[in-house]
Amino acid sequence: MLLRQLFDADTWTYTYLIADEASGKALLIDPVRDQVDRDLALIGELGLTLEYALDTHVHADHVTGAGLLREQTGCKTVASHLGPESADLRLRDGATLALGALTVHLIETPGHTDDSVSFRVDGHVFTGDALFVRGTGRTDFQAGDAEQLYDSITGKLFALPDTTVIWPGHDYKGHTASTIGEEKAHNPRLAGKSKADFVEIMGSLGLPEPKYIHQAVPANRELGLGAGPDQSSGHFNEIDGPTAAQLQGDMRVIDVREPHEFQGELGHIEGAENVPMGQCEAASKGWDRQQPLLVVCRSGRRSREICEQLVAHGFDHVTNLRGGMLDYRERGRAQG
Ligand SMILES: [Fe+2]
Repeated sequence: MLLRQLFDADTWTYTYLIADEASGKALLIDPVRDQVDRDLALIGELGLTLEYALDTHVHADHVTGAGLLREQTGCKTVASHLGPESADLRLRDGATLALGALTVHLIETPGHTDDSVSFRVDGHVFTGDALFVRGTGRTDFQAGDAEQLYDSITGKLFALPDTTVIWPGHDYKGHTASTIGEEKAHNPRLAGKSKADFVEIMGSLGLPEPKYIHQAVPANRELGLGAGPDQSSGHFNEIDGPTAAQLQGDMRVIDVREPHEFQGELGHIEGAENVPMGQCEAASKGWDRQQPLLVVCRSGRRSREICEQLVAHGFDHVTNLRGGMLDYRERGRAQG
């Protein structure tokens, strides 16, 4: 079996190419519309034929490439029986797809959304947004349900052999894969946690809305062939303190307060660069427009203004720390 993990940096989405090498038959799991050209080039270079484009659910954070792939290759689009009505195959729990000598098993794993499914091939399981490496999908929109997600993960995914390799739909910290045994032991939302614990954790995440939700969900119900978003302009994300603490890793943190505030009582985020608000416009001319930026101030108001300015100047990956250092400190303490 050939397996390739592909990444869309704008939406932190993994797409998987799987092929049966003997027959050259291939499928894509969770293709991203903006990456269809990349995926088709790879499939061509490897001499494969695309048989199926599978979606693990109706995504809120990116537009699926399934419809476009069907148009361009004649492949069949596959989703849950609760997924888009225009999918060629709408499958139920236990359904299988043949891909040459390989068999793909569909496992319904609802909870992130009601139509969420995972796909198992040999010793690999593609979990979409049900189970991430050391995390899980969120459950606060699109008919999400934390109790249901707990049951899906512990009842269905954790019933697979411990050696089964997990390939998630996203990762925000640089992980690529895990195993069932590893997540049973180390996933902080699940290891040693009851269903009640899990529901409480999921209820207190306070995540921002995905930046493309209002365009992506309607477009994905049409397999990505609806109008869809312009993913390259006009938007910035907002996150809260605890989320910022998790995401910081590869983000450049720009603190737009005055130097005395930066060195003052609230302190600053480790690694942050102090660029006072009045200097941002000039300074930003030398910044990499592709690098994710987290903009920070005291209360989140000045940083919001700077985010708007940066987006207007063509920065693609701008995030505001909502509530600023006040929220970051207060919630940091509450959490710690
Ligand atoms: Fe999702």
